[in-house]
Amino acid sequence: MKVTVVGAGHLGATCANVLAYRKIASEIVLLDIEEGLAEGKALDIMQSAPTTGFTSVVCGCTNDYERTADSDVVVITSGIPRKPGMTREELIGINAGIVKLVATNVLKFSPNAIFVVVSNPMDTMTYLTLKATGLPKNKVIGMGGALDSSRFRYYLSQAMNEPMNDIQAMVIGGHGDTTMIPLTRLATYNGLPVTTFLSDEELQEVAAKTMVGGATLTKLLGTSAWYGPGSAVAFLVDSILNNQKRMIPCSVYLDGEYGVEDVCIGVPCIIGKNGVEQIVDVRLDEEEKNKFAKSVEAVRNMNKDLRS
Ligand code: NAI
Repeated sequence: MKVTVVGAGHLGATCANVLAYRKIASEIVLLDIEEGLAEGKALDIMQSAPTTGFTSVVCGCTNDYERTADSDVVVITSGIPRKPGMTREELIGINAGIVKLVATNVLKFSPNAIFVVVSNPMDTMTYLTLKATGLPKNKVIGMGGALDSSRFRYYLSQAMNEPMNDIQAMVIGGHGDTTMIPLTRLATYNGLPVTTFLSDEELQEVAAKTMVGGATLTKLLGTSAWYGPGSAVAFLVDSILNNQKRMIPCSVYLDGEYGVEDVCIGVPCIIGKNGVEQIVDVRLDEEEKNKFAKSVEAVRNMNKDLRS
């Protein structure tokens, strides 16, 4: 199975590395506009094969889209990341041009691929990719919810002092500091609601930390994070390539689901070999519905900037 990762920066290269060492894809092509960067990162990853024991082939190229031909999955990470104090939304001007160019170029050589969009502002970039490529809605998936849910599980495990693997939790809505919705009501620890173990106040604190999870890392690192995001992308790609049908919150095109139309936003999806196999309705309560409606509005407003 072949995966192309466009953008060999922090996130793209980390994602390629996880795809290789976890043997998720047999062939990985890294592509970047910066001369030599993708080639260098690919070479470095390949030289870790003898010590990590993978057999996948990773290669890199500078803007040579022919090398990406017949990919099963294309991951778009190209663009600029945010700096401390910036919101994801402020990246739209530069990243929209890059994402549109990359998506249409890559489509020429891989017309059957499933696209995973990562560049920020991710929900709007997913919408742009869908419109620019004309692909069916099941084949364009935005990655944000997998990462935000991992962060939510991390902060829940910290608050409860329990292992993360025993905690299930999900973040839906937009992939923005103020638009994401950690579903505290539905989070569980070993099958029991986390509300059994944490007070309302503690849960609110966990949700608040989750929402600024990316900003916290950007402040510490001086740029946006890559280990968590790279791993979350690989988790999603694994579910596609190996038809695992995992339920993962992803930014997908809503066509009446959740009472919403013509927007890409995070909702729980079954992800398999056809991309989005199913959108799952988690029956939000009134408060969650209100938050979701506000989040949809914010993403819709951001999409308007694509026209200006
Ligand atoms: P980075 O700056 O390390 O890498 C971006 C790469 O894109 C650079 O190597 C650059 O040369 C390349 N690039 C720019 N224009 C290109 C073009 N036309 N064709 C090919 N390559 C091109 O940035 P990083 O940290 O890897 O982040 C990438 C993107 O992912 C950013 O927009 C960031 O905000 C976003 N991100 C999204 C997350 C999510 O959960 N959806 C999480 C973290 C970051």
